[in-house]
Amino acid sequence: MLVHTIKEVRDQVKEWKKEGLTIGLVPTMGALHEGHLSLIKKAGSCCDKVIVSAFVNPIQFGINEDFDKYPRAIEKDYKLCSENGVDILFNPDVKEMYGTNEQTNSNNFTYVTPPYFYVDKLCGASRVGHFDGVCTVVLKLFNIAQPDKAFFGEKDAQQAIIIKKMVKDLNVPVEIITCPIIRSNEGLALSSRNQYLSDEGKKEALALNKILTNINNCYLKGITNVSALKETAFSFLNNHHELEYLEFFDADDLSEKQTADNNTRVFIACRVDGIRLIDNKKLGE
Ligand code: PAF
Repeated sequence: MLVHTIKEVRDQVKEWKKEGLTIGLVPTMGALHEGHLSLIKKAGSCCDKVIVSAFVNPIQFGINEDFDKYPRAIEKDYKLCSENGVDILFNPDVKEMYGTNEQTNSNNFTYVTPPYFYVDKLCGASRVGHFDGVCTVVLKLFNIAQPDKAFFGEKDAQQAIIIKKMVKDLNVPVEIITCPIIRSNEGLALSSRNQYLSDEGKKEALALNKILTNINNCYLKGITNVSALKETAFSFLNNHHELEYLEFFDADDLSEKQTADNNTRVFIACRVDGIRLIDNKKLGE
């Protein structure tokens, strides 16, 4: 069922709750790919009913980011959802979510602001306000769908860590389940933004996974010094790549690691021919 209003979701959720059914929510911005489908399948295996939201959330995009040209494909999304047992595809417009068609900001709307320690690094450092926008919309979606469990991909690992923190700090009654990154056969982490890449760009983008895999292999051979591990990245980069960050943080609380261990996650962001891509890997796996 494709629905566009909060009321329709609420009414259906009320019925399901009366019947004692459990609800899984998969929040997305649409343009669904295999990565999203893995979350949907996981939700279907853990919950009686599955809601997928497809909403390109304006308040998590900076003014110079790709909100307007972010891919939108609701008909294809609906087909994929129907084929994969989704009970509701929730596709609100901006007015339905924020009561205005204008860009909402913290002067005229209540925002959820995650702790600075979690957002002053990685994607939060270059995308100021991004995680306020993410947490605000995710909390709204939780309040609308009232899920028992919500499913997020490890591809956006910083996002998943911040959402877990929000849920813990604000006592939101939902269990956050994270699911592994889905990759192309060649190793590129699936992302809606990959469709901006040319064929050449797709090949060059494999460098991200190669860097992470090589770092993990070096770690498995016994190298734990983070500076030494970072050094190994440079042989994979050429003039197609503009490295934004390559960082080692604790996989649960995003504290910095000088010495890598099995709870270290390596995060990379790199522009490939101008397209910003992110990837990450937990060491030792
Ligand atoms: O990961 C995403 O697609 C978005 O950040 C999310 C969680 C759906 C919030 O808009």
